[in-house]
Amino acid sequence: MTALPCAQSVAATSPGVLSQRAAKGFEREIAKYPPEGKASAVIACLAILQEEHGFISTESEMLVAAALGMPPIAVHEVTTFYNMFNQAPVGRFKFNVCTNLPCALRGGQHALEHLCSTLSVEEGGTTGDGSFTVQKAECLGACADAPVLLVNDLQMVSFMNDARLDELVSTLRAQGQADAT
Ligand code: FES
Repeated sequence: MTALPCAQSVAATSPGVLSQRAAKGFEREIAKYPPEGKASAVIACLAILQEEHGFISTESEMLVAAALGMPPIAVHEVTTFYNMFNQAPVGRFKFNVCTNLPCALRGGQHALEHLCSTLSVEEGGTTGDGSFTVQKAECLGACADAPVLLVNDLQMVSFMNDARLDELVSTLRAQGQADAT
């Protein structure tokens, strides 16, 4: 597995303040659409703020709503619809384990429980050292490879079984330790 970018915050600014970097990103994304369609940049703008802060706060939603002329509730609907947007801070590595029917029929729920038990976390929880978050996901569009999980919204792990999951956890733990030194 190639090294994954951290799922946690890299920002120095507070979620309620639009950094210069984020403002430039917003400008770039909004310019891709006609003025009356600038709401189409909502996902890209949310992604910019999540990259900075590690999750989407109410303050971040307000910033996006103001920039795009959208009602805050409409931005919140987008944040809560997509798995890739974190509603709260997450661990260094976030596991989205698919438990929809095709994955469930091939052990998706077992994989979720195995990870939770291995890492001693509740579903949706984060390990005490902040290394791992384990959560359920809706269909990830890779049903033929079931059961699957997604790490940090970027890397798909297919045909999960206990051995593959144990190896994944140990590889990522080593990566986290290497990143910290
Ligand atoms: S049901 Fe799991 S990827 Fe589609």
